[in-house]
Amino acid sequence: MILVTGGTGLIGSHLIYSLLKQGKEVCALKRHNSLLDDIRKVFHNYSDEGDKLLKKISWIDGDIRNMNEISGFPGEIEEIYHTAAVLSFNKKQRQEMTEVNVGGTSAIVEFSLQKDIKKFCFVSSVSALGLPDENGVVTENSFWERTRSSTWYSWSKLNSELEVWKGMAEGLNACIVNPSVILGHGSWSRGSGMLFSKLAGGQRFYTGGMTGFVDVRDVVDIMIRLMDGGLFGERYILNSENLYYRDVINMIALELGVKAPSIKAGRYMTSLAWRLEKIASVLNRKAPRISREIARSSQKKMAFSNEKIAKTLGIKFIPVANSIREICAIYKNEEAGY
Ligand SMILES: NC(=O)c1ccc[n+]([C@@H]2O[C@H](COP(=O)([O-])OP(=O)(O)OC[C@H]3O[C@@H](n4cnc5c(N)ncnc54)[C@H](OP(=O)(O)O)[C@@H]3O)[C@@H](O)[C@H]2O)c1
Repeated sequence: MILVTGGTGLIGSHLIYSLLKQGKEVCALKRHNSLLDDIRKVFHNYSDEGDKLLKKISWIDGDIRNMNEISGFPGEIEEIYHTAAVLSFNKKQRQEMTEVNVGGTSAIVEFSLQKDIKKFCFVSSVSALGLPDENGVVTENSFWERTRSSTWYSWSKLNSELEVWKGMAEGLNACIVNPSVILGHGSWSRGSGMLFSKLAGGQRFYTGGMTGFVDVRDVVDIMIRLMDGGLFGERYILNSENLYYRDVINMIALELGVKAPSIKAGRYMTSLAWRLEKIASVLNRKAPRISREIARSSQKKMAFSNEKIAKTLGIKFIPVANSIREICAIYKNEEAGY
């Protein structure tokens, strides 16, 4: 039996689909108030047998922070894929990020050691890595250090990764993946899904930053191959291409048939924007749409190497243009009510 945490999220839902498709038995952790709408959509978008496969998931209710209080597993757990986390740039969620990302990972690593779990895969992030090497790219050997543009999220991912490294030192067979921005269908209101819904809604600004992008199907495929191949004790960057936000936004706009944003938001404009947003959020009592962390990240130019995983598994990543074309087709279908 395989346990997946974060089963209702982007990676979790695509991962569970792939595992079930391969005939594996899966139980998945969700909170008692988690919504199943996105995973239902993901399964449905993959195939007509989506509903049948969805019924094969054994859901377990619980909070990752209280792993030891969770019971009712449908069988003996042999493998764990840990994907649950909080991804936010909102100051108000810092405490929750520390508790869920770091505390939750510590709790599930402890659970795995106690229950003698055979295989463990942890989803970290490129944000847990450090600065570029002499070739201008970030590799697995680059270690995180605090800079002006570091975010709380990146600190929390680094520290959650360290919990897994500690578990490995105590005998846990674990592999770690560090994906760049993940592209995939599912939710249009969180993660990279917002790139699509915001553009469809008439976004006018773009920023000068650059980062890596990877298709969720590659992420899931690699995680399963690392686990099945017993390739433990390493971390791997998962990245298809390094691209300017503007190029990605233009590709999405073209596929959606909407006008591409034409106003460049430079450093001055984004730093003014987060300050104005902060004032507005106090007055409206609503979460700010842009924070200082988002403003700084949006201007950063980062490139990530995928050499290590490409050599290890001989993988060829799905080109970003293909991912975008397919996701936009699904977005348009959903918007048209199909
Ligand atoms: N998306 C990206 O671009 C990206 C890139 C690099 C790395 N990552 C990493 O990949 C992992 C998965 O990301 P994702 O995009 O799939 O995230 P996501 O769509 O936001 O899903 C997060 C999942 O974590 C669950 N969760 C949150 N707090 C929890 C708690 N206290 N107890 C139990 N479950 C909890 C959520 O459940 P609910 O449904 O109840 O909210 C949801 O299932 C994360 O570790 C993230 O840091 C993501």
